[in-house]
Amino acid sequence: MSDEISSAPQDPLTSHEYDGIREYDNPTPGWWHAIFAGTVIFSFLYVIFWHVSVFGWSIHDRWKEAELAEFARIFGSVGQLKPDEGTFLESMQNPQFMAIARATYLGNCTACHGRDGEGLVGVNLCDDAYKNVKKIEDIFTVINEGAKSGAMPAWKSRFSENERIILAAYVASLRGTKPANPKQAEGEVIPPWPTHSVPVMSPQSRERSPGS
Ligand code: HEC
Repeated sequence: MSDEISSAPQDPLTSHEYDGIREYDNPTPGWWHAIFAGTVIFSFLYVIFWHVSVFGWSIHDRWKEAELAEFARIFGSVGQLKPDEGTFLESMQNPQFMAIARATYLGNCTACHGRDGEGLVGVNLCDDAYKNVKKIEDIFTVINEGAKSGAMPAWKSRFSENERIILAAYVASLRGTKPANPKQAEGEVIPPWPTHSVPVMSPQSRERSPGS
């Protein structure tokens, strides 16, 4: 018994006592504090990187990227589309085409027409009024040739015909959507797009498009 007492550590005792139980004043070691502080600092950096900064990515982004690449692969094997009313209407119903066209739109048209087509320097593409468009095919013409002496650039040499066709269909699909902060309507209100749709796609892409 006396051995035990003499071999007990000589650390100072804390001042409190509960039911006769005393406690040595043994602070947690420095390395433990360092790990604890490290995890706290890490948690802040983690939140900032993944939830605040533009550098973080999510599994959803990765999925979208992979999906888009797959759509582009399928799109490459679609064959030449025809820039006619039926193709535009059909393409609007094809979620794969619309995903590819949206990516093209975001990369090239957002600066002037806004992320959702609400209109900035360029006109609002979501309302029923158009300046250069009377029928759905005219959207394709404006994209090809531009308008207002180049204020709307010509895109004919920038994208393949198929890309411009689904881009026109995408612009047509923006009509009737409700973006935040829409620019005031310009031009004349035109009749709604026709609703009938002529089958032009491959059976495979038709099968996958819901609601058509
Ligand atoms: C440099 C700015 C700019 C960019 C970039 C731009 N546009 Fe435009 N766009 C305009 C302007 C300005 C008009 C209106 C022309 C006019 O007043 O006749 C317009 C008109 C249009 C119209 C006709 C709308 C109407 O009411 O007649 C369509 C369709 C269109 N743009 C599609 C696109 C697409 C698709 C892209 C991307 C590939 C694009 N624009 C990129 C400036 C731009």
